[in-house]
Amino acid sequence: MAYQGILHRYGHLLNLPSYTRPVSLLEGDTPLIPLPRLGRELGCELYVKFEGLNPTGSFKDRGMTAAISEALGRGAQTVICASTGNTAASAAAYAARSGLRAIVLIPEGKVAMGKLAGAVAYGAEVIQVQGSFDDALALVVEITQKTPIALVNSINPYRIEGQKSAAFEICDDLACAPDWLCLPVGNAGNITSYWAGFKQYQACNATGLPQILGVQAEGAAPLVLGHPVEKPETVATAIRIGRPARGEQALEAAQESNGMIIAVSDAEILATQRVLASEGIWVEPASAAGLAGLMAKTAAGQFEARGKKIVVVCTGHGLKDPSIVTESFPSPKLISATYQALADLIL
Ligand code: F0G
Repeated sequence: MAYQGILHRYGHLLNLPSYTRPVSLLEGDTPLIPLPRLGRELGCELYVKFEGLNPTGSFKDRGMTAAISEALGRGAQTVICASTGNTAASAAAYAARSGLRAIVLIPEGKVAMGKLAGAVAYGAEVIQVQGSFDDALALVVEITQKTPIALVNSINPYRIEGQKSAAFEICDDLACAPDWLCLPVGNAGNITSYWAGFKQYQACNATGLPQILGVQAEGAAPLVLGHPVEKPETVATAIRIGRPARGEQALEAAQESNGMIIAVSDAEILATQRVLASEGIWVEPASAAGLAGLMAKTAAGQFEARGKKIVVVCTGHGLKDPSIVTESFPSPKLISATYQALADLIL
């Protein structure tokens, strides 16, 4: 039967209320792409779970199909979220499909163009907040406590339920859990979901458990520093978060899995974005953080990749944030429309 999205495929494993009314854009079923060349360099079996290939270009669609389906079933009319951009675009798309009103709060001036454009294109009401993501999140929490507006940030438990599907897919594709899972950490919903998903699959299918390497950006690394960061800064705007809502659970996932949460610099993130592109996989900066962490730890001799099966999660597509690339090179060379000019340039 044709693929029908994660609620259809994994609904029996997700803790969703019976009144849930499924709304899907056929999210999920993303490829687990082998990286044999880089894997050889690191001495491991390496894969990218390319979540940028979800319908709105990021992993958020997995949790959003669940959260919006629950909100619709419950009779909500309006949904709201705070977002560094991807959640906003995803909420906007699923709300549009369900006929719900979507309001998204974004930190002023810090959202990548492809994300903002998506939220607008899908018809959300976009509001900029003079402050950080954390400030915006506090506002949406307060308004959803005082009104029937439904919160679709990953504080919403159904977001976590839907997002578990990524762990199930990885186990299904590999016929076991990987030895390590490396991923970026911002508000910490994703790492929480993966760990819950892997534990659940291990309990019913004995697929084993991965160790988890969570990676933050140095300028926005509250879980590494052990305290909130008041003014988070990083080129990876998706994870520019100083007070992760599920920070405790992220630390638990790292600890229980015998993994770790580390930080990498913006330079390492951008260099790793280029490494992935050299393998044909273009991701937005935050999405390169997982591999950046793996490479940095391996280079420092603090990580033994040799002989391991490793999955790095690339959370969002490069098209989300094109300016990070276009601003880093001069305009393309210009030639007259003649064969000679082309030949002179390239031969
Ligand atoms: N990668 C990308 C591309 C993201 O957009 C996010 C989070 C993360 C990683 C981190 O995931 O928050 O579950 O730890 N983006 C949120 C948003 C905050 O608003 O789109 P997390």
